[in-house]
Amino acid sequence: MDIGVFLPIGNNGWLISKTSPQYQPSFALNRHVTERAEHFGLEFVLSMIKLRGFGGATGHWDHNLESFTLMAALAAVTTRIKLYATSPTLAIPPAIAARMASTIDDISGGRFGLNLITGWQKAEYDQMGIWPGQEHYARRYKFLAEYVQVLHDLWRTGHCDLQGDYFTMKDCVLSPRPQAKVPIICAGQSDEGMAFTAQHADMNFCLGRGVNTPTAFGPAVDRLRVAAAATGRQVGTYVLIMVIADETDAAAQAKWESYREGADLEALAWVAKQAGMDATSSAHAHTTQLTVPVGAVNFNMGTLVGSYASVAAMLDQMAAVDGTAGVLLTFDDFVAGIENFGTRIQPLMHSRR
Ligand SMILES: Cc1cc2nc3c(=O)[nH]c(=O)nc-3n(C[C@H](O)[C@H](O)[C@H](O)COP(=O)(O)O)c2cc1C
Repeated sequence: MDIGVFLPIGNNGWLISKTSPQYQPSFALNRHVTERAEHFGLEFVLSMIKLRGFGGATGHWDHNLESFTLMAALAAVTTRIKLYATSPTLAIPPAIAARMASTIDDISGGRFGLNLITGWQKAEYDQMGIWPGQEHYARRYKFLAEYVQVLHDLWRTGHCDLQGDYFTMKDCVLSPRPQAKVPIICAGQSDEGMAFTAQHADMNFCLGRGVNTPTAFGPAVDRLRVAAAATGRQVGTYVLIMVIADETDAAAQAKWESYREGADLEALAWVAKQAGMDATSSAHAHTTQLTVPVGAVNFNMGTLVGSYASVAAMLDQMAAVDGTAGVLLTFDDFVAGIENFGTRIQPLMHSRR
């Protein structure tokens, strides 16, 4: 099973809480986490793109670095680990994304890949006057299919003439082309997102589910398998999960309880409002997962809370689910978290021996 880290590119990571570690994103922090991940033999790091935060007492995600430029800098200071940036496809034309990718491919020596998102938070794009309107929700994966076609044409042939509904390319060229295949990630959870992934992407990222229910993500793997059967392609599932670990189960549980008690309700209300805007598809089921009250403090991301040994055992259970290609880790505290993962958790994992 591959292991990656979802880098803390936004303030306070994935805990929307007044009592969790409070920190700003910086190159220094992301460099440290990436270098330690590389040191411990992890396979990849991924950074998201977020262009507008949630406000509230913690100003959650009001402070965010930009994904491509961060990964370009990390490419220059690492040697082995794979690096994935996220393209906000409404904001960055595909020919520019293709060229940035081939630049980072060059810097990294072929270690770069791309996460493609359609965008689900209107406020991020409306502030720049580039939100396409309510109809975007219904057609966003058609738009993404054309976007990825432009990328693939340019990367494979250095040339694109696509005459699409969303992109009109006129003898568009790219050189240099990437030296290695640029893997495409899609984290779509809706039926449309899964179908897109099965057709065009190499990796699917899904949200883990529940607290200490490590295999509860199984249905997402099954759904992707069904979608991939229709296209005949091999696409692995990676599971997003938060690790809250300590010396004992009780100590880890106490941290989790304290984060939940400190939930930033104002910021959470903002997320719920944004997520509720897309009622057009099965996307709704996903976006409501973000806001179910019980675990909303960390987006209801699957969460492993326990001693280092308990977390290692739960990660092994995840690895045993057929179709699981890897996990994408977040931590309550990324600096302590990556260190404890590398020195205390990973050595106990059978799936990493
Ligand atoms: C691991 C992971 C990374 C994601 N990265 C981003 C991101 O950087 N920016 C963003 O707006 N959405 C991001 N998303 C949201 C997804 O792209 C997707 O829109 C969401 O999972 C809902 O699925 P759907 O688009 O099929 O409805 C991410 C989701 C996951 C699970």
